[in-house]
Amino acid sequence: MTPGRSTAVVGLQWGDEGKGKIVDLLAAEHDVIVRYNGGANAGHTVVFDGNRYALHLLPSGILSPECRCVIGNGVVVDPRQLLNEIESLEARGIPVEPQRLLVSDRAHVVMPYHKEHDGAMEEMLARSVGQGDENLSIGTTRRGIGPTYADKVYRSLAIRMGDLLDADVLRQRLDIVCTIRTRELEALGVQASPLDPAALTETYFALGQQLAPYVTDTVYALHDAVSDGQRLLFEGANACLLDIDHGTFPYVTSSNCSTLGIPAGTGLPGQLIDQTIGIVKAYGTRVGEGPFPTEDLGPDGERIRERGNEYGTTTGRPRRCGWLDLVAVRYSAMVCGCSALAVMLLDVLSGFDELKLCTAYRLPDGSMTDRFKPDARQLATVQPVWETVPGWPEEIDHLTSEDALPTAARDYLDRIAAFVGCPVDIVSVGPDRAQTIQLGQTASA
Ligand code: GDP
Ligand code: IMO
Ligand code: MG
Repeated sequence: MTPGRSTAVVGLQWGDEGKGKIVDLLAAEHDVIVRYNGGANAGHTVVFDGNRYALHLLPSGILSPECRCVIGNGVVVDPRQLLNEIESLEARGIPVEPQRLLVSDRAHVVMPYHKEHDGAMEEMLARSVGQGDENLSIGTTRRGIGPTYADKVYRSLAIRMGDLLDADVLRQRLDIVCTIRTRELEALGVQASPLDPAALTETYFALGQQLAPYVTDTVYALHDAVSDGQRLLFEGANACLLDIDHGTFPYVTSSNCSTLGIPAGTGLPGQLIDQTIGIVKAYGTRVGEGPFPTEDLGPDGERIRERGNEYGTTTGRPRRCGWLDLVAVRYSAMVCGCSALAVMLLDVLSGFDELKLCTAYRLPDGSMTDRFKPDARQLATVQPVWETVPGWPEEIDHLTSEDALPTAARDYLDRIAAFVGCPVDIVSVGPDRAQTIQLGQTASA
C-alpha cells in the first residue's frame, strides 16, 4: 500500500467476513487502529503463529505491538468485557498499556440493564409472533447494543465513559435510571428485584477507576495523530448490510457500521480516508433473523458451514450459509465507497463441481433488477437469479501466489471484481496471517 495513507476496512455482507484477519494484516503498515462503531456484538478472529485470538471490543491492531489502538466515541463499551479482554491478552503475554489503548470519554457505556432489556425484548417479540406474522425479534447477540444506543438517543438516561469517573454524577444519573428501568423491565416480564443505584454506582465507579488510565478525549488524540502524519486504519465492526440506515432494516444492528459511520464515530472528517477495503466472504453467511436471498438450506449450505466452521465467534450460534450475493456486495461497495476488495475464505469453496453467484433478483411481478433492496420486507420477496460457474477440486489453503490458483478460482475472483467494479487486492485461503495472497497494492501479505 502507499505510505502515509489512511485505510478503512469494512464488511460488505452481514458480518464475519474476516475483517479481523485483514485488520491484523494491514496493522503493520499503520500507526493507529480505530474502532468507530458497535460494541461486544462483534467477534473478530485473528490467527498467527499457531495462536488464535477472538476480539470483541479491542481493535484487532492490539496484537501488533507497534500500533496504538483507539475505541472511538461511536462505540458502546461494556467496561467489564473490556477489562476481561485486556486481562486475557495480558495473560497471553500481550501488554495493553494505557499508551497503546485510548478509550473515548464520550463512548456510551453498556450497563447490565441494557443487556437484560435486550434479552427480554427479544423474548417478548419472539413470543408475540402469531401464525403468518412477521417475526420482529432480530436475533440479537444480547450484548445490550440496541438499548445502549437507544439511551444515547434518549440523552437524559445515557452514561458515557467519562461519567464513570465521577461517583456523584454517576449516582445522580443512576437514581433516576434505576427507577425508570425497573418499571420498564417489569413491563417486559423480567421478574427481578428493583435495580439498586447504590450498588450499581459502586460497581461501575470501581470499573471506571480501573479503566481511567485509558479514558481520554480521542477526538483530539486522533487529530493530533493525523497532524503528526500517522497512518490510521479504521476497523469496521458488524457490516454494511447490518447498518442501521443502509442495512436490511429492521434486521440490523444499531449503529452505522458502513464507512459512513467513521466521521461521526471518530470525530474525523470523511475525506481523511484514502482507501477503503471491502471485505467479502467468498460465499454468504448471516447470523440472526432477516432475509437472506441466497441462503442454501440444503446440503451445499451444510457443506459450507462445516468446511468454513461457520459458528459465531461471539455467541457460538450456527451461521446461516449460502452462495455469494453479488447484487448485495455491489450495493455495499457503493455505499462504503470501496476502492478495493479482499475476498476471504476462498479455500472453503474447494471441491464443489459448480458454484452459484447471484447476479440479479427476480421480483414478485416477474421483472428483474440488479439493484439491492435494503428494506427487509421487499428483500424477502425476491428470488435470486443465478449464474453458475465451474468449481475447482483441489485444496488451495497452502497456495501463496495468484498464479498457483486453479483457473476456475481465478475466474471466480475476476467475476467478482468485474461485477462489483472494484479490483480484488487480497485473497485469503485460510485463517492464518500467512495464508494470504496479495494481488494488488493494498497489503504487504
Ligand atoms: P470478522 O467478524 O469479520 O472479523 O470475522 P470472524 O472472525 O467473525 O469470522 C471469520 C472466521 O473465518 C474466523 O474464524 C477466521 O479465523 C476465519 N477465516 C478468516 N479468513 C479465512 C480464510 O481465508 N479461510 C478460512 N478457512 N477461514 C478464514
Ligand atoms: P462482526 O463484527 C455477525 C447481527 C446479530 C443480529 C443483529 C443485531 O463479528 O462481523 P445486535 O446484538 O447488534 O443488536 O444484533 O446483528 N450482528 C452480527 N452478525 N457478525 C457481527 O459482527 C454482528 N454484529 C451484529 O446476529 O442479527
Ligand atoms: Mg465476527
